[in-house]
Amino acid sequence: MKPLLLILSLFFSPCLFAQQKDLAPTPPMGFMTWNYFGLDIHEEDIKSLADAMVESGLRDAGFNYIFIDDGWQGGRDNKNNIIPDPNKFPSGMQALVDYVHAKGMKIGIYSDAAPLTCGGFTASLGFEAQDAKTFAKWGFDYLKYDYCGAPSDWQTAIERYQIMAEALRNSGRDMVLSVCEWGDREPWLWAHKAGGQLWRTTADIRDKWTCGETVQNPSDLHGKGAGILDILNINATLDAYAAPNAWNDPDMLVVGLYGKPGAPSSELGGKGCTDTEYQSQMSLWCMMAAPLMITCDVRHMNAATKRILSNQDIIAIDQDPLGKQAARVIYNNTWQVFVKPLSNGDIAVAVLNVSEATQTANIPLSELGIANKNQAKDLWSKEMLRIDNAIEVKVAPHETKVYRFMD
Ligand code: GLA
Repeated sequence: MKPLLLILSLFFSPCLFAQQKDLAPTPPMGFMTWNYFGLDIHEEDIKSLADAMVESGLRDAGFNYIFIDDGWQGGRDNKNNIIPDPNKFPSGMQALVDYVHAKGMKIGIYSDAAPLTCGGFTASLGFEAQDAKTFAKWGFDYLKYDYCGAPSDWQTAIERYQIMAEALRNSGRDMVLSVCEWGDREPWLWAHKAGGQLWRTTADIRDKWTCGETVQNPSDLHGKGAGILDILNINATLDAYAAPNAWNDPDMLVVGLYGKPGAPSSELGGKGCTDTEYQSQMSLWCMMAAPLMITCDVRHMNAATKRILSNQDIIAIDQDPLGKQAARVIYNNTWQVFVKPLSNGDIAVAVLNVSEATQTANIPLSELGIANKNQAKDLWSKEMLRIDNAIEVKVAPHETKVYRFMD
């Protein structure tokens, strides 16, 4: 079947839409194991990470999930129940889930719509109902469902995500479904209807600013090493699809990784970014109402990383209940300017300098559709400004200024 026909048939299928719950009214936020630990995860690390999320104030800033990524699995038992690796999780999953819940946090798990995951571990194809029940019994709140080892056509992908979504709905526990097929089959057109609350829009992020090429098609990013700017340039075009319980996911925050050797994010030229670039990622991801997944070692963050991740004014833009992704209203070789309407009538504006030199912006408010608002807060410097006709500001290379316009 042609992709368009497939999507139409999905929209007219009677059973799915009505059953969806309000599981992710704002973009999910938390700590994800992948880019710090890779496959080498252990219950003690995850517990100490959960402790650090609380002690650092990041949980209270909104990062209230711990997401376990690939590498936790230890095969199946003699009843085909999926089990954790006993060396990595000697106390069992239930104990870890209870520990994280007792910290006032939620917890996510990972699987894949094929026999094996991307890392080569046991996955859920053919065992969807059984695995969903196991995840529910352990107490998980969220499933990231990957697509390595699965056929490339659209129809199979849609079906496999529908099957897992249904399995989660019948599991006896509310769990968010995160669709992870990297944007290759335009999941923004079907993933929500198939039962997901968020979907990855690109190949995996690496800890770098750009691969140096202009890539418009998500599947062309594979193997190139997608940087912050490359992912921005795809995700920014998808604003029409984002809404509460339906989020474009431009992958994890690389903030604070600094090119960590051995981390998956350091592959394909991921040598690390400057704090200015990390601050831009945080700003732009929040403008795009992106899920916010920290992957650096929050147990040993430096002051810059903590400041970037804990900026409550910026997080409030991401978590605004209106749930609009910013529209990119200016896009040229120097500037990218984003506008995001907020629930109380305020308007957030982000100004990114993509050039390699410091530049002075002069952007008429009329070009941004802003009228009758002259007061703005600079959400990084915290200054209150009076802006009459135009935003005039010096912006360093790869820096992003963010303003909240109010009455
Ligand atoms: C894929 C996903 C990543 C991560 C790894 C785990 O590459 O896109 O986010 O989950 O698999 O193996």
